[in-house]
Amino acid sequence: ALITLRQLLDHAAEHGYGVPAFNINNMEQGLAIVKAAAQADAPVILQASRGARSYAGDIMLRRMVEALAEMNPTIPICLHQDHGNNLGTCMSAIRHGFTSVMMDGSLLEDMKTPADYDYNVAVTAKVSEAAHAVGASVEGELGVLGSLETGEAAAEDGSGAEGKLDHSQLLTDPDQAADFVQRTRCDALAIACGTSHGAYKFTRKPDGDILAMHVIEAIHQRLPGTHLVMHGSSSVPQYLQDLINGAGGEMPQTYGVPVEEIERGIRHGVRKVNIDTDCRMAMTGHFRKVARERPQEFDPRKFLIPAMEELAALCRDRFERFGTAGHA
Ligand code: G3H
Ligand code: 13P
Ligand code: NA
Ligand code: ZN
Repeated sequence: ALITLRQLLDHAAEHGYGVPAFNINNMEQGLAIVKAAAQADAPVILQASRGARSYAGDIMLRRMVEALAEMNPTIPICLHQDHGNNLGTCMSAIRHGFTSVMMDGSLLEDMKTPADYDYNVAVTAKVSEAAHAVGASVEGELGVLGSLETGEAAAEDGSGAEGKLDHSQLLTDPDQAADFVQRTRCDALAIACGTSHGAYKFTRKPDGDILAMHVIEAIHQRLPGTHLVMHGSSSVPQYLQDLINGAGGEMPQTYGVPVEEIERGIRHGVRKVNIDTDCRMAMTGHFRKVARERPQEFDPRKFLIPAMEELAALCRDRFERFGTAGHA
């Protein structure tokens, strides 16, 4: 059944687990992710970016997720707007069946210019009031996602923003977080701790200087009752880099967020873990592999079936390691 983010994360907090939020754009991603959730007996968050909504269309996305829920009646599913950029985006998502929205007021509407605190509070509070009036949940974000190695803010598409940011903007401040949650009434709070979107997060295996998990611990200590969200949480595992590069890909060596660091976050209040890049790599790795190994092949299902299997295996692993498994 479709449920709200609030219902789902309240249960996760009560039982001390985290829930992966996987991005979806098409049927095959939906089938693979929800099949893995059913196998793990886990609740799941399916999130659609503005790009996903324009790719698939709002009507298609809603019907697809309703179909996935009908096919898997025991699995709680939340349909969430990822990185809403204004009130209009959030309200049109709710109108199209989304049970939860993210108002990302850490950036201005263009989703690349860092915003000031007063703008963020005002726009997030406005979305909360409107969403709560119709029973939907709200995720806010405080602190700008971006690299502590380069000082670059992370745009939604994994590219960098203009200008350099300092650590005070790239790391969420616990006292400001307390004020933000109280004033905006958001149901979940996305924090910044040095992660960014896309495959190129870190140039080396991250330590505490570039992946600031201690900030999450400080926020959780200050706000023990708030559901925290980690964006940019793909692990960019070596086996997927090898799959892609072994089949003719040319991805330079890179490092993501180690799963054990996410597990540490979950022990300190992280309840929603956003993952898109790993899912993309799992699928496209097999597109490349099939194209390389069987150049005579032209049936798209022969590409999509192994891609879905790899994606489902990745999802099952995250359900197990985040403690989501068994909680449907
Ligand atoms: O926030 C970033 C997600 O990976 C969504 O990316 O806007 O290309 O769909 P997208
Ligand atoms: P990744 O690029 O690390 O998968 O992050 C996805 C995300 O944060 C979506 O909001
Ligand atoms: Na989101
Ligand atoms: Zn994100």
